[in-house]
Amino acid sequence: MTGYTMLRNGGVGNGGQTCMLRWSNRIRLTWLSFTLFIILVFFPLIAHYYLTTLDEADEAGKRIFGPRAGNELCEVKHVLDLCRIRESVSEELLQLEAKRQELNSEIAKLNLKIEACKKSIENAKQDLLQLKNVISQTEHSYKELMAQNQPKLSLPIRLLPEKDDAGLPPPKVTRGCRLHNCFDYSRCPLTSGFPVFVYDSDQFAFGSYLDPLVKQAFQATVRANVYVTENAAIACLYVVLVGEIQEPAVLQPADLEKQLHSLPHWRTDGHNHVIINLSRKSDTQNLLYNVSTGRAMVAQSTFYAAQYRAGFDLVVSPLVHAMSEPNFMEIPPQVPVKRKYLFTFQGEKIESLRSSLQEARSFEEEMEGDPPADYDDRIIATLKAVQDSKLDQVLVEFTCKNQPKPSLPTEWALCGEREDRLELLKLSTFALIITPGDPSLLISSGCATRLFEALEVGAVPVVLGEQVQLPYHDMLQWNEAALVVPKPRVTEVHFLLRSLSDSDLLAMRRQGRFLWETYFSTADSIFNTVLAMIRTRIQIPAAPIREEVAAEIPHRSGKAAGTDPNMADNGDLDLGPVETEPPYASPKYLRNFTLTVTDCYRSWNSAPGPFHLFPHTPFDPVLPSEAKFLGSGTGFRPIGGGAGGSGKEFQAALGGNVQREQFTVVMLTYEREEVLMNSLERLNGLPYLNKVVRTEKNSLNNRFLPWNEIETEAILSIDDDAHLRHDEIMFGFRVWREARDRIVGFPGRYHAWDIPHQSWLYNSNYSCELSMVLTGAAFFHKYYAYLYSYVMPQAIRDMVDEYINCEDIAMNFLVSHITRKPPIKVTSRWTFRCPGCPQALSHDDSHFHERHKCINFFVKVYGYMPLLYTQFRVDSVLFKTRLPHDKTKCFKFI
Ligand SMILES: *[C@@H]1O[C@H](CO)[C@@H](O)[C@H](O)[C@H]1NC(C)=O
Ligand SMILES: *[C@@H]1O[C@H](CO)[C@@H](O)[C@H](O)[C@H]1NC(C)=O
Ligand SMILES: *[C@@H]1O[C@H](CO)[C@@H](O)[C@H](O)[C@H]1NC(C)=O
Ligand SMILES: *[C@@H]1O[C@H](CO)[C@@H](O)[C@H](O)[C@H]1NC(C)=O
Repeated sequence: MTGYTMLRNGGVGNGGQTCMLRWSNRIRLTWLSFTLFIILVFFPLIAHYYLTTLDEADEAGKRIFGPRAGNELCEVKHVLDLCRIRESVSEELLQLEAKRQELNSEIAKLNLKIEACKKSIENAKQDLLQLKNVISQTEHSYKELMAQNQPKLSLPIRLLPEKDDAGLPPPKVTRGCRLHNCFDYSRCPLTSGFPVFVYDSDQFAFGSYLDPLVKQAFQATVRANVYVTENAAIACLYVVLVGEIQEPAVLQPADLEKQLHSLPHWRTDGHNHVIINLSRKSDTQNLLYNVSTGRAMVAQSTFYAAQYRAGFDLVVSPLVHAMSEPNFMEIPPQVPVKRKYLFTFQGEKIESLRSSLQEARSFEEEMEGDPPADYDDRIIATLKAVQDSKLDQVLVEFTCKNQPKPSLPTEWALCGEREDRLELLKLSTFALIITPGDPSLLISSGCATRLFEALEVGAVPVVLGEQVQLPYHDMLQWNEAALVVPKPRVTEVHFLLRSLSDSDLLAMRRQGRFLWETYFSTADSIFNTVLAMIRTRIQIPAAPIREEVAAEIPHRSGKAAGTDPNMADNGDLDLGPVETEPPYASPKYLRNFTLTVTDCYRSWNSAPGPFHLFPHTPFDPVLPSEAKFLGSGTGFRPIGGGAGGSGKEFQAALGGNVQREQFTVVMLTYEREEVLMNSLERLNGLPYLNKVVRTEKNSLNNRFLPWNEIETEAILSIDDDAHLRHDEIMFGFRVWREARDRIVGFPGRYHAWDIPHQSWLYNSNYSCELSMVLTGAAFFHKYYAYLYSYVMPQAIRDMVDEYINCEDIAMNFLVSHITRKPPIKVTSRWTFRCPGCPQALSHDDSHFHERHKCINFFVKVYGYMPLLYTQFRVDSVLFKTRLPHDKTKCFKFI
């Protein structure tokens, strides 16, 4: 029933019509917005009332006036009635209107309530999810705890030294000593730490014959050595310095022998002793040849075959200089690869093999049959022919311009002074080294001197004569740095040298420089190498590397604190197992014996060498994927429990082939309390954050000190004004975990060649290549902090202190030098300074100018430009990928 139906039923008078029309207008104007529900319920009531009233009035008119006379009266009455009705209806409508408004507001209230309910359901769901997370993480932690609680490795049974004088039976053949029959292992348990006792040469008669310079250098390096102990009773090794003797003629072998045998800890046969002969000359004597050294090892740079006990004695380098660090400014650059001369040789032979054999025969009985061929004539003829052919520029001289240096018979004596020889070698791509004509002379100090001078200035050594025993040949892979060619191949040498590619040549030159710098350049490195060699042979790990003491800044990890919309907003996604996981340290020193037992060749033949034991390195072998699932321990947290998945599963997992881990923030601050507080506030609540460590700003080098408080392998180095969002940091960390040997960070820079000045420039302009990632916001392995502080040349740290600048460049140089890989840039951010922060020191011209200087200086120190370009940037896998609606991205913005 509608309003129209009502009109038709009583549809007669004008007034009524007007009334009704007005009424229906009103309905339209005010009621249109009313809900259908209300219209339906209330209209039937109104219509019924109206109809009954109309019918009653009609009846009454007929009764009073009769059908005719009643007509007029009836009209009036009818109008009055209608008006009355109208009034009462409109009153009723007003009431209804009030009621409607009341209901309306009630509905609004209810709606609010519904909203509130919805919200609390949502919250409850969220809480439930977090609880689930907490539970699963607790389960993880529990499992991990159980795994760690495996019974601790107990120390091996201590070996006990033999009673001092009982000793082993003396070796039947004096030259037959090897470790197994001449070394007392019981003095050197694996876990003993390799204590070394050094005799003070001044207390013994032979000490007065020693060259004072050699003695001084030796004493200085002994004082600084970590293995040296004063307590002879517990020592594993006893060291005696016996050379270089100033006036060899005055000290008879018999006297030296007597003095050695009466050393207080010689114990009848000198087991566990090492007799070191360092020399600064390429001299002629071999005093120890006629000395009975019993079970003591001999370390010197001249050996006859009959004298040398392989695997027992040590071929060491002559001590050429005693400086604490080489002067890098005097070392020529490694590039260009090709130098003026393809190869050079200068020398003079004082005595031929044939004539020297006459004397040698008397005691060298093992030389039987025909005397060995002396290749020297053929060598001279061939090399001269190469020189004359002028195919390549070569320089060979077989007589010295001045008096040749003293040398052993059959050996090619050195010509000129060290400085002259180095000048020529700087012009040589290769340096020929012709071994002595007498093949029973395994190594002579003349040859060794040639070898080290060549390595020092980057001439690649070519050793003619494969019988030679190069220094530390049982550990050092000399083939990576030098060519060893048998003498009969001398006619093929030219061809061979020409066939090598530039990149191989440079790699050899670089390796030679590493060997020289690490093992031969200073008195320190020579003594350390002798000890490391013996230590490696008996499989004892190196001493752990040093750490520094730092202060920790309290922080909260986990999500609770993240309220700054700037930083934590990754939409609805979590940023990892975020509920406050307690800080935990990375496991350390798991490879003590791996490094000495199975990995020793690598540690000897790549930087930084075998001298330190690191708590962890970025070079652990990678596990296969099965290991995550088939019980190689816990803590992997693969994505979706191993089933994989998009963003949601990804964020709850940790992924990767590495055990779970955390990182430590090291922040460089400039005494700007407010900036510092802000940046700490920004870090609060970051998942995986283990610690925040503060370093004082007295040196920029402190930024990379290996603080003892840093218990994680990963370090996030940031400036206090670096403004990074949490998701960016998390992403950077995840990328670093897969590239642990690289610097992984945000702001990229590059080195550019300055064409007019022919030098390097530091460049921060936009570019499609980069070669550095600034450590104002970057992850790197703690291993590099050790290398930066204790292994990298001091000259670089001094430059950083002088300019108060460039420490980040130095770190990039170091890592690229070690790995030969460029850094990794993550996310699209090119720069990251916060707009409101006070300007850091880094934006004026002098800052850039210094950085140009640093780069060029560092290149001089390394001898080449270690930085490598890359065009590669890392974004998350699903970044900018169109996804079905039920999948989520790894990160919302990156
Ligand atoms: C030490 O070595 C040098 C060079 O090989 C040699 O001249 C010297 O005689 C040696 N000293 C002793 C004591 O053997
Ligand atoms: C060792 O002694 C013998 C006999 O005295 C002597 O002929 C020889 O030259 C000595 N050897 C060395 C290398 O000094
Ligand atoms: C490895 O070396 C470190 C440092 O010297 C030491 O603390 C740790 O106990 C060693 N581990 C084993 C298994 O010997
Ligand atoms: C960077 O680009 C600007 C403008 O293109 C140029 O003037 C400046 O020299 C560039 N800086 C460097 C270090 O190349």
